[in-house]
Amino acid sequence: MTTTHTLNDPLDVQPTPLALLLLGRESDPRSERGVECPGDLPAPSDPDLVERARAAKARLGDRVFILGHHYQRDEVIEFADVTGDSFKLARDAAARPDAEYIVFCGVHFMAESADILTSEQQQVILPDLAAGCSMADMATAEQVAECWDVLTEAGVADTVVPVSYMNSSADIKAFTGRHGGTICTSSNAQRALEWAFSQGEKVLFLPDQHLGRNTAVLEMGLTLDDCVVYNPHKPGGGLTADELRAAKMILWRGHCSVHGRFSLDSVEDVRARIPGVNVLVHPECRHEVVRAADHVGSTEHIIRMLQDAPAGSTWAIGTELNLVRRLAKAHPDKQIVFLDKTVCFCSTMNRIDLPHLVWALESLADGKPVNRIQVDAETEHFAKLALEQMLALP
Ligand code: 13P
Ligand code: SF4
Repeated sequence: MTTTHTLNDPLDVQPTPLALLLLGRESDPRSERGVECPGDLPAPSDPDLVERARAAKARLGDRVFILGHHYQRDEVIEFADVTGDSFKLARDAAARPDAEYIVFCGVHFMAESADILTSEQQQVILPDLAAGCSMADMATAEQVAECWDVLTEAGVADTVVPVSYMNSSADIKAFTGRHGGTICTSSNAQRALEWAFSQGEKVLFLPDQHLGRNTAVLEMGLTLDDCVVYNPHKPGGGLTADELRAAKMILWRGHCSVHGRFSLDSVEDVRARIPGVNVLVHPECRHEVVRAADHVGSTEHIIRMLQDAPAGSTWAIGTELNLVRRLAKAHPDKQIVFLDKTVCFCSTMNRIDLPHLVWALESLADGKPVNRIQVDAETEHFAKLALEQMLALP
């Protein structure tokens, strides 16, 4: 049994089904899309998994390029040719025109973006189709089209530039491209907003209200009163036409279920436990958490800050647990703890495990690609406009 971990020691916990089960988060049926693996997965207990992954990768050689997001499991990251946040991985995918297969160890919207940014001849593979994202699922194409109608009726649509977080479906990216907007990631949200406000008077920010609010208020000097929240489950978004006319930032009511778990209590508690601790959080965290923290930044920024930190310094990190555990291991000269007292993996990122990776690689090596992610041509055309706008941001 692998039950030795306690919830008070999150850095010791493996993302096993049991650990996820303990928190009632062994699965997330909404974002896992109820997808069953269509093939014969090797058993997780197969002692040859590592060897099989190595052998399949070697058989494929330069024909395959494996991308690994920072929130992936250690067992998967071990086989990644590059690791990165969603911005870096989008660029890395676009920069490998020679690779016949891009195996994306991340979640569905990232694989879609890679498909959009790569050529028709290249195939993007997501080892487990159930690896969705609950935040991306909070904005559907129908809801966003309805929102645009509401903005049109209020007489403001002409002044609005959509800015969509990378963590959104290809349909939402296409909506953004159709309306002259841009994609952003947590690494370039400020630059994206600066650009958007140079093009129009207002921004519709989708789907993460926290990244939108944190960037607008903490980086751009807007006030909380400049922001309104559009609730897709309420008629008219729950806003009056006057509220829409007065707003500068129209924030979609979406959030990340992983980063949304960190609270002001988590920050106060860690400061009481570890005097002098530096609190460093991801901008998907709630506004009050980011305000109470000492530093905020994307996953790449978090990694760089810890690399540059002096030996002996202490850090509490508010982001996904797989990354925090790896950082703690990589920097034994610094004290690095997880911001919350409980385990906090992203259940959909964790869907990609070694058995799925082995299955995907062996299928490719046998000439039978599985789990290809393919965006249709029209969606791709408009989504690409918005993605290319992001890549061209100053
Ligand atoms: P970044 O990779 O842009 O830091 O975003 C974090 C995240 O939640 C990815 O799903
Ligand atoms: Fe989605 Fe949050 Fe998981 Fe990222 S960490 S994939 S935003 S649920």
